[in-house]
Amino acid sequence: MQIVDQSGKNTLPIGVFDSGIGGLTVARELMRQLPDENIIYFGDTARLPYGSKSRDNIIRFSRQIIRFLVSKQAKAIVIACNTASALALDVVKQEFDVPIVGVIVPGARAAVRESVNHRIGVVGTESTIRSQAYTKAIRSMESDAVVIGKACPLFVPLVEEGFAKHNVTGEIIDYYLRDFVESQIDTMILGCTHYPLLRSRIREYLGDRVQIVNPAYEAAMDVKAILEKEQSVNDSGNLARYEFYVSDAAEKFKQFANSILPYDVETIRKINIDEY
Ligand code: DGL
Repeated sequence: MQIVDQSGKNTLPIGVFDSGIGGLTVARELMRQLPDENIIYFGDTARLPYGSKSRDNIIRFSRQIIRFLVSKQAKAIVIACNTASALALDVVKQEFDVPIVGVIVPGARAAVRESVNHRIGVVGTESTIRSQAYTKAIRSMESDAVVIGKACPLFVPLVEEGFAKHNVTGEIIDYYLRDFVESQIDTMILGCTHYPLLRSRIREYLGDRVQIVNPAYEAAMDVKAILEKEQSVNDSGNLARYEFYVSDAAEKFKQFANSILPYDVETIRKINIDEY
């Protein structure tokens, strides 16, 4: 997408990426909170899952994707992937001129605000949990917080395979979240962009006493603040345009996108991300 703006960068798109469809939950929130902004989304479906990959590879993938989004003139980038936010954000922020927002700090901030007893659970990929990124972010805001993390690697394929409502998903939720039932957490961060697609199942399992936090809303608010600060809010009055790219299996991605987003996506383009 080449959006030419005579007056500056305001109509240029926000670039959003994730390892797959999960980041659409963040894109959906950006569409709700910033309805005038154009968005370019990239899902790295050829290299998913990110959650079990090494830090070096996640940094390499993130650099390539940011280069692609910058080539599309993104005025800001949202790393809508907790794993890439946890492992690559600090590095890529130093390397690119464009503002880059991750989802960990916004998610931690929302959880600290919600929690009354300062006992916070975090579910995420193996890499995100191992990195302790949420624990560090939460403790920097609330030093006495108790953070209990749990990697739930099977949640991503369940979502990618469309098993959100399936019985087997209930058993896997029980397997992973059983320890939280006695843990007295009052807040649970969905620290992987795929997990909001299991939100109602997780809520049902944990009960009303646990607030579920999806970092997407808070991340959208951070993007809004950055655009305002940079004076790059899209105030053209034009209808927002959305474009979607993947590194593999565009048709499958399209079906999911259409079940997650509030409108039907017509075109998903497959690109070779290794060229970037
Ligand atoms: N959706 C990504 C995240 O938020 C990870 C899923 C994956 O393992 O690729 O961490």
